[in-house]
Amino acid sequence: MIEKEKERILQLRELLHRYNRAYYVDSTSLISDFEFDALMHELEALEAAHPEMADPNSPTQRVGSDLNTNEFQTVVHAVPMLSLGNTYSPEEVTAFCGRVEEGLGRKNVDICCELKFDGLSISLVYEHGNLVRAVTRGDGTQGDDVTNNVRVIKSVPLAIPADAGCPEHFEIRGEVLMPWSSFHALNEEREIAGEPPFANPRNAASGTLKSKSSAVVERRKLDAYFYQLICDEIDVATHHEQLLLAKKWGFKVSEHIEVVHSAEEVQEYINHWDTARRDLPVATDGVVLKVDNLAFRQALGMTSKSPRWAIAYKYKADRARTLLRAVTYQVGRTGVVTPVANMDPVLLAGTIVKRASLHNEDMIEKLDLHIGDFVFVEKAGEIIPQIVGVDLDHRAAAPEEIGEKVRFATVCPVCHTPLTRYEGEAGTYCPAEYGCAPQMKGKIEHFVSRDAMGINSIGPKTIDVLYDSGRIRDIADLFDLRISDLCGADGSRERSAMNMLRGIEESKQKPFHKVVFALGIRFVGKVAAKTLAEHFKSMDALCEAGEEELQAIPGIGPVIGKSVVNYFRDEHNRKLVERLTAAGLQMRQEEKGAESGAPQVLAGLRIVISGTFEKHSREEYKALIERCGGKNQSSISSQTSFILAGEGMGPSKRVKAEKLGIEILSEADFLERYGL
Ligand code: IVH
Repeated sequence: MIEKEKERILQLRELLHRYNRAYYVDSTSLISDFEFDALMHELEALEAAHPEMADPNSPTQRVGSDLNTNEFQTVVHAVPMLSLGNTYSPEEVTAFCGRVEEGLGRKNVDICCELKFDGLSISLVYEHGNLVRAVTRGDGTQGDDVTNNVRVIKSVPLAIPADAGCPEHFEIRGEVLMPWSSFHALNEEREIAGEPPFANPRNAASGTLKSKSSAVVERRKLDAYFYQLICDEIDVATHHEQLLLAKKWGFKVSEHIEVVHSAEEVQEYINHWDTARRDLPVATDGVVLKVDNLAFRQALGMTSKSPRWAIAYKYKADRARTLLRAVTYQVGRTGVVTPVANMDPVLLAGTIVKRASLHNEDMIEKLDLHIGDFVFVEKAGEIIPQIVGVDLDHRAAAPEEIGEKVRFATVCPVCHTPLTRYEGEAGTYCPAEYGCAPQMKGKIEHFVSRDAMGINSIGPKTIDVLYDSGRIRDIADLFDLRISDLCGADGSRERSAMNMLRGIEESKQKPFHKVVFALGIRFVGKVAAKTLAEHFKSMDALCEAGEEELQAIPGIGPVIGKSVVNYFRDEHNRKLVERLTAAGLQMRQEEKGAESGAPQVLAGLRIVISGTFEKHSREEYKALIERCGGKNQSSISSQTSFILAGEGMGPSKRVKAEKLGIEILSEADFLERYGL
């Protein structure tokens, strides 16, 4: 019996790895989610009964944990991770091809053209088909052991199928990336939490992979592409063949690799991807050109820094030159004051640009910016154009003709309070948290936002009108509004006023963790709010929490801890919380249902999940549905209560749902309706 169970564990692991690979690497589904979950549950149960069979590479271990707060170990690379020679010039690429031909004494050498992924490089070591170590590039000689974090990147194979024929030991290198979709979602979330956005997906991927919590890594949905196999045990002649093998073993290898035979074809590849790369789901910043034949590589060898058999061609960021007219300042929800360059309109990467972010005071100083300067504006992978330099050749020759030097504002452009800069921070802040309109409006906007109290009927325009007319000054004032205050608030009539009141009333039922998030405590995002709510169970307890206690909670670091203490130390905030309590908001964590651990809001409902989601993975939604008393169904039937539909729900499902008259709920509507 026990032997049978052990065999089943191995069988289930192999099956689930295969299904995972199909889904995350090959973008196909081999079985329904329901069946997948059933197998996963079966494996979980068997593993729990056989702790001696524990395996860090089991498909059950792909879940992040908040607990691994240890530092990363430094690991020396068996083979140094070299960097490549870089160029921005097509002529130099042709010269590279010429050098290769000359060095080998032959013409038409096969060149493998690949995209240059813009993330951070990673080295994975496999033994007997199992992932044993993942290490960052570091300084090229040694890097950080980030194995626990890499395990939760779904497209990274944890175990290679036994029949794939992979060698006993091999190393594979590639790039960890944050896809654009994950990047945009993450920045949106950070903005709501008052955290600075990541400038580009590379920084985001790098910050994420080095996170101390693998749960954070899992949530942020990284991806990985592989481009170099290091192994003496396989007998193939070319790099391209190596990559095909890697693909066969289950690694994600770019579909856009091409082996070409001349410098002209290399240029064609470069030219094609200059524009085509904009449609890819991940950021790329160039192409990498590699001699394909491995023996030729050997013959060409290395310079002191990089191999002679490869070169990286980088695409120039789109750049334009225009005249700086003025610098204005914007005050954000958190009080941060951002300088904005106002320029003569200029065409940049297909759009007209008139404004660019100047980031902060240091940036203005560094550029030594003067009004009337000609400035260079760039748009790289980033969305917001940046000023990257001043065209000094075109600055007026005579000193008296140079425009006024730009000096950072000293008072808030809105409330005229003197600005402050905190030690060690690049940002400048307006400290008038409760007297500065954009900050106050921002707090209210955050409070009503979808992930906070979800009062959808009140938008920024209404808040503007209500605030400017003095009908609301803070979030607690929302609960004193009467219909007469709202009628015509934004030019609307009684019906929409009723809608707003209903939204406000319904928000009183939103769970405690949403209230914690809605307060807009600096650095307390959705996840931290949930953690705090679960730990303290009530607003009273959270109010009284000390820094030490807060920091001891997994997932709450010193920055959040300090911010929470400061928030509740402020008399103004304590009063606000008192008023919200009096208004009837949920100030306690709801007692968990005896065994399920969650409010049974989905009791008796049969739900079909389809597509992919933004906030949680499909697996998380399935688990959530079960915890809340619902049942997951694998296919639509007349018994189905509704369909939880993400991106890319199959058309046949939609047709069937419509035929049976079954409601299709979006992710947002689902979370909203059931207060999840
Ligand atoms: S090959 C010795 N291929 O670009 C050659 N690198 O400076 C090893 N990169 O550190 C690298 N896409 O992080 C290679 N298709 C690709 C790549 C790629 C991105 C990164 C990698 C490396 C840097 C080269």
